Order: sequence, then C-alpha cells, then structure tokens
Amino acid sequence: MSAKKENLMEKIVSLSKRRGIIFPGSEIYGGLANTWDYGPVGVELKNNVKKIWWKYFVQEREDIVGLDAAILMNPKTWEASGHVAGFSDPLVDCKKCKTRHRGDKLLEEKFGVDKIAGIKLEDVQPRLIKEKIKCPDCGAVDWTEAKRFNLMFKTHQGVTEDSGSLVYLRPETAQGIFVNFKNVLDTTHMKLPFGIAQIGKAFRNEITPGNFTFRTREFEQMEIEYFVAEKDWKKKYEEFKEACWKFFTGYGLNPKKLRWRQHASDELSHYSKETYDIEYQFPWGWGELEGFAYRTDFDLAQHEKFSGQKLRYREPETGKEFVPHCIEPSFGLDRTALTFLLDAYTEEEVRGASGEKETRVVLKFHKDIAPIKVAILPLSKKEELTKPARDIFNSLKSHWMVQYDETQSIGKRYRRQDEIGTPFCVTVDFETLDDKAVTVRDRDTMKQERVSVDKLNKYLKDKLEAC
Ligand code: GLY
Repeated sequence: MSAKKENLMEKIVSLSKRRGIIFPGSEIYGGLANTWDYGPVGVELKNNVKKIWWKYFVQEREDIVGLDAAILMNPKTWEASGHVAGFSDPLVDCKKCKTRHRGDKLLEEKFGVDKIAGIKLEDVQPRLIKEKIKCPDCGAVDWTEAKRFNLMFKTHQGVTEDSGSLVYLRPETAQGIFVNFKNVLDTTHMKLPFGIAQIGKAFRNEITPGNFTFRTREFEQMEIEYFVAEKDWKKKYEEFKEACWKFFTGYGLNPKKLRWRQHASDELSHYSKETYDIEYQFPWGWGELEGFAYRTDFDLAQHEKFSGQKLRYREPETGKEFVPHCIEPSFGLDRTALTFLLDAYTEEEVRGASGEKETRVVLKFHKDIAPIKVAILPLSKKEELTKPARDIFNSLKSHWMVQYDETQSIGKRYRRQDEIGTPFCVTVDFETLDDKAVTVRDRDTMKQERVSVDKLNKYLKDKLEAC
C-alpha cells in the first residue's frame, strides 16, 4: 500500500471521528475490536444511502416490494439454507504467537483475489509455507493446517442454554425473504418476475475483520431476491447488472474506480451458479461493494424440503406450478456508505482570508447523500441576526436536515460544513436586515449568490430536488 493511499484511510478515519460521522464502538471502555458507531452526521449519511437505495429499487419499480423480517429465525432455516454445513472460512493458527488468521486472505493479499479464489482447504497451509507468507502479528512462517470455521454467531433464546434453545444471528437477510415468499405472494398477488427487498442487520464472526467499516462482524445489508421463471433468469440478470451499475454511478461514484469481477467456478457460494461482484478500488485494493448471484431455485427448493410447505408459483395463463428461480443483488450498506465517503473526499488548495494558501477538505457528496443539506450561519451572535437566522432555520427544517451554527468565525463554519459535505451554507448578515436577502454559498464552486429570504425555500428546492 502506498503512503498516499494509507494516508487517505487515516484521513477518513480521523475526519469521521472529528466530525461525528463514525466513532470507534464502546470507546469509553477501550473499544471492542472492529465495532463502529455512526455519529450524528454518520447516521444521516447511512439513512440517506438506505433512502436512495429503497427509492431506486423499491419505490420507483412496480415489480419489487419491501419486507422487514426478524433477525432471529427458526434454526432449521440455516440447515435448509446450507449455512450450518457450509458457511465457513479456512482458519490457520500461527504456531509461534497463537494468533488466528484467514489463510485464503493472507494469500489473496499477496497474489490477488483472482489467483486465490476457490483454493482447496488442504492447499492453504502448504501454499502459505511455500510462498513464505509471514504471520502479520509476529512475522513467523509457521502455520497449522487450515480448518473450517463456521461464521455464524450462536446465541440462546429464553432462559435455558441447551441445544434446544440455540438460535443464530442471521448471517444474511436473504433467508428472511425466502421464508416469507409465500406470505408475500398470497398478500400482494405479484406476478413473476418480481422481487422482495430488505434492509437489515446481519452478523458474521469473521476471522479477520478490518479496513474500518468495510468488514465488520455486525453489519447491514440491502438485498433483493428477484424471482423469475428459469428460462428468464439470464435476461433479468443482465438487466439488473446494468441497473446496479447505474445506481452507483448515478449517485456519483467514479466509474473508473468500479469494475465487475466474475467469481471463478470454485469460488462460488454453495447456492450460486453464477456470481459477479461490483468492486471498488479502495485504498487497500479492489474490494466487493455488491455481490450479484444467480441462486437458481436452490433456496426455495431447500425450504420446501425442510419445512414441508409448498413454495411454488402458479402461472395464471397455464395453471402450471413451479418453484421460481432467483437472482440476488446483495449490497453491503456500511461499505456502500464508506465508499461514498471515500469517493467524495477531496482536498483543494484555496486562498485563506489573509491570502495565504490553505487546504480545503470537502466531501463532494451527491446532494441526496449529503447528511446535512443546508447550514444556516448568522454572521454575528447578536440577536438582530440570530433571530432572522432561526426563523429561516425553522422555515426549512421540515423539508431537509438543516443545521444552525453560530459558533466561531464564518470561515471556520464554512470549513466545518465542507468537511461534512453540506451542499449549501446560508449566511445571514447585517445587510439582511435591510435587503431581506441572504448569501447562499455553493459547496463545490464556493460561489456566493444573494437570494431574497422569501425566495430561499424555492431556490434550495430547485437545487436540492433537481434530478
Ligand atoms: N445474501 C448473500 C450474502 O449475504 O452474501
């Protein structure tokens, strides 16, 4: 990793802490490894990512409906889905310092995911030794044989802790959708092809989480299970691939930092016949932003078998019943928010108040993603300015997330808003008392425009809600 790239991650972590975007989890107790809490600005960012995703994939489509299923599910779900038997990673121990690592990831870091994907369990340790891959903690090359490690978090429901009370924290939201397939079909009368979307928490006891919020054990997913007749899967798959790409680029991600990567046949999840990932070029290398799998009829057929319930679709024209096939766009919400954050981060050289060069840090978010849309800044703390400024704040707050800020110099307040990506700053100054107008500053161009107070709402609406 180059110093410059390392630097970017450090800058993002530090900016996140400084500006209330993301804090280390349980910090007052020394933290809990790889847990992160979204602060007042971060929660708005994350909510906005959820909003744009829901709008794009659910609200604006007739063929997709939403769902919000429970995290705890009957444990048979996970037997049927194959997660009890097969949801595991290859774990190796360093014999010298006793730390545990994901063997495939250690190899991937050196050779790239394309070369290592699908490596057999028995080949992991010999390859680590042959390639002299060092333990990241102590530097030794002394690895145990690789073992399978199931990634599902276990807990117990109710007052006993015997095997009868065992439940899992869901490792994917997808299964909540599959088990509700019939409920949705019966209550909505959707016709194939149709999809069910869900946003929610999922949990994986990752051996090596890391890279800030990119890989955490508790995370949020945005998933769609899109049901099709088998003969139609490829056409719909291609259509969805395009829609997903447009989602990311339409909301401003740099297309040069995005790519599709197809999973090799031995890399595919147990349920998938074909998978492509949209990857982003993170500071540490390419990483998955969205996985897009053709799950065939695997899940519904398995749930039929394990539950004894029919999970079929009856074709209205022919009366023929069949188990639909499924394609699945699966997005990581936290890593999507992180990607928007990284992609928006910009440093610009500008002239300060006294003419000296300084660096302006600005998050150039798409306006729909920006956590705060407008900041209201009275030039002085005198009531003759704070009163009209508060009136403006009150007139805008029901439309958008608006912040009122009267502390420190106007320059510092502009910098603070730039650092959280606020598209517009509205300054109330002494002239406002005479001309009943305010100065609106554009985040990206820094151009200032005088706008009359009675036209401010419309002015901002036109700018913030334009397509
Ligand atoms: N539902 C797919 C995944 O969680 O990876």
